[in-house]
Amino acid sequence: MLDDVFNSFFKIEPMLSEVVQKALNDQINMEFRSSYSYLAMSSFCAIHNFPGCASWLQIQSEEENDHAMRLRAFLLDRNCPLVLQPIEAPSAKYTTIPEVFAAALQSEIAVSQSIDNLYELAHKEKAFAALVELQWFISEQVEEEKTVRDIAAKFEMLKDDPSGLIDLDGDLGARSAEEAAAN
Ligand code: FEO
Repeated sequence: MLDDVFNSFFKIEPMLSEVVQKALNDQINMEFRSSYSYLAMSSFCAIHNFPGCASWLQIQSEEENDHAMRLRAFLLDRNCPLVLQPIEAPSAKYTTIPEVFAAALQSEIAVSQSIDNLYELAHKEKAFAALVELQWFISEQVEEEKTVRDIAAKFEMLKDDPSGLIDLDGDLGARSAEEAAAN
């Protein structure tokens, strides 16, 4: 009898449907994969002597980790379990710095599409709290896609101009330092 009272008192009722929980856990995995990808890109730039790009991409990697953690906090706030999955190794191939940013842009477009799909699912499942949470991610993706698209376009224009590439690397490094100081 006492056991029944205890169990019912402490029973954890998830406040999201299973399908939404699964989709959120999948998105967390995608954000960690994105963090891994940016880390690989940052390392490529570092060993090719583009320290500004390396720094910018490392900060981006940390932001993607923050996105995963933000979704984790939301899941836990809704009494839902975090189900961690293996993080796939980055598969993007690049041999030049412009290719790194072109790959970054493709990655951001894929994340945006995934967030849109998640939003659509949350709407279908009437997961209204998830819709509010996901609006932040939709706005964030608009900003991230635009930023990476602008950088990718600049690298594409400068790819045969070594001094221009060095200047752009310096700009990216300076921006990274400003953002780090502001946080
Ligand atoms: Fe969190 Fe830019 O994807």
